[in-house]
Amino acid sequence: MPVIAIDGPVASGKGTLARRLAKALNFAYLDTGSLYRAVASLVLARGSDPNDSVLAAKVADSFTADDIDRDDLREEKVGQAASIVAANQEVRKSLLEFQRNFAKTPPNNHLGAVLDGRDIGTVVCPSAEIKLFISATPEVRAERRHKELLGRGDQSIYARVLEDLRERDERDRNRDTAPLRAADDAVVLDTSDMDADKAFTLAKKLIDERLSA
Ligand code: CDP
Ligand code: CDP
Repeated sequence: MPVIAIDGPVASGKGTLARRLAKALNFAYLDTGSLYRAVASLVLARGSDPNDSVLAAKVADSFTADDIDRDDLREEKVGQAASIVAANQEVRKSLLEFQRNFAKTPPNNHLGAVLDGRDIGTVVCPSAEIKLFISATPEVRAERRHKELLGRGDQSIYARVLEDLRERDERDRNRDTAPLRAADDAVVLDTSDMDADKAFTLAKKLIDERLSA
C-alpha cells in the first residue's frame, strides 16, 4: 500500500494538503498531531501538568482511537501541551504502533494512506513512497493560524499566536527524540507565497508522477 508522508511545522498547511490529497487519491488520512493532542488533553483534563512525564506516559500507554474525538483538541493550549508531551520518549513509543498499523493497513479498504505530522518521513514511515516537507515563514504561518482562530470566535492577538508558534517550533525542532526535520529524501515545499489550491496542485502533480513511475 502506498504511503504519503507529510511533515512540517505549525500551520504550514500540511493538514489541509494531506486531507485534500487523501480525498483525491481515495487514501485514508491520519492527522498524527491529534494523537499527541489527545494525550495532552487527557492529562490537562485531570488537572495535571503535561511535564509530568510518568503520567503522560501512562495516559499514552492506554491511548485508543476514540480519544481523537475529544472536543478541545484544536485549542492552542492543547497544542502547546501536545508539544510538551510529544518530547517524552515513552509517549512517542506508545503512539508509534498505532500510526504504523494505520499506514500498513489503511482502514475502510482505502488504497493507501496519507499521514501528516513531524516525524512521519523520518521515523514513523521511513520507507514511504512519497515524502513532502511543507514550510512557510513563521509570520505567514502565524497569520494563517490567527485567521483560523478568529474564524472560530477565538479573539486571540496575532503577536501572541506568533510567539506561541515560535515556542512550539523551537521545542519540536530541538527535542532529542524524533525532532521536526525534513527527511533527506523529502521534497520541500515552501508555501509562504502559495495559497492552499496552488500547494495542492503542485503536490498532486508530483505524486501522480511518482505513483505512475
Ligand atoms: O496542519 P497545519 O497546522 O500545518 O496547517 P493547516 O491547519 O492545514 O492550515 C492552516 C491554515 O492555512 C488553513 O486555514 C489553510 O486554509 C491555510 N493555508 C494552507 O493550508 N495552505 C496554504 N498554502 C495557504 C494557507
Ligand atoms: O496543527 P498543528 O501544526 O498546530 O499541530 P499538530 O500537528 O496538531 O501537532 C501538535 C503537536 O504534536 C506538535 O507541536 C508536536 O509537538 C506534536 N507532534 C509530534 O511530535 N509528532 C507528530 N508526528 C505530530 C505531532
